[in-house]
Amino acid sequence: MSQDDKKKNVAKAAIAYIEDNIIVGVGTGTTVNFFIEELAKIKSRIDGAVSSSDASERLLRQYDIPVFTLNNDIEVPIYVDGADEATQYRHLIKGGGGALTREKIIAAASKKFVCIIDDSKMVSTLGVFPLPLEVIPMAQNHVSREIIKLGGYPKLRVGFTTDNGNIIMDVHNMKIESPLELEQSLNQIVGVVTNGLFAHRPADILLIASNNGVKKK
Ligand code: 5RP
Repeated sequence: MSQDDKKKNVAKAAIAYIEDNIIVGVGTGTTVNFFIEELAKIKSRIDGAVSSSDASERLLRQYDIPVFTLNNDIEVPIYVDGADEATQYRHLIKGGGGALTREKIIAAASKKFVCIIDDSKMVSTLGVFPLPLEVIPMAQNHVSREIIKLGGYPKLRVGFTTDNGNIIMDVHNMKIESPLELEQSLNQIVGVVTNGLFAHRPADILLIASNNGVKKK
């Protein structure tokens, strides 16, 4: 089975978690694009969506799904998003698409976070996928020096600007044995807006697609 077929299957499986008359938190990425397609099929039974990126928002609007913002004073019972890496503890690396800050905000504001991945994203230790940081542009050199002190190798994502007008630095060579501690340390670096570790707010449900179907963790 192709990776895209697995992504489609896991996107379909996530629909089972969508209750009637709610606003659905929607993430970003290719897996989520399949989820938005599925959501469009049941749009008559939801009130709308809140989105973690301009790209997902455009797609939701193409399907005529009403888009809200968190400042509309809404409740978000469920947030569905992909990930770049996940562990059995449902700790994640996210931000491959550069939307990590808004993703973290919606995850924090949601009651339940359902993460949808294919089995290639499961790891025993996070960090093979470079860890994205959203950084205020003027802090680039300062943040680089601080990351090197922590043992990482920061690389600027060239030609990329986030929806919030910032840069992304991808941190290579980090074997992340203690995601909770590292997430906190990275939050202390001045100039880092958000880091892509989702350990303090992990997924509540991890849906993993493989050749043998979709499993829940
Ligand atoms: C975007 C993300 C995505 O969820 C992550 O990159 C996975 O993307 P895909 O579903 O395309 O593999 O965190 O910022």
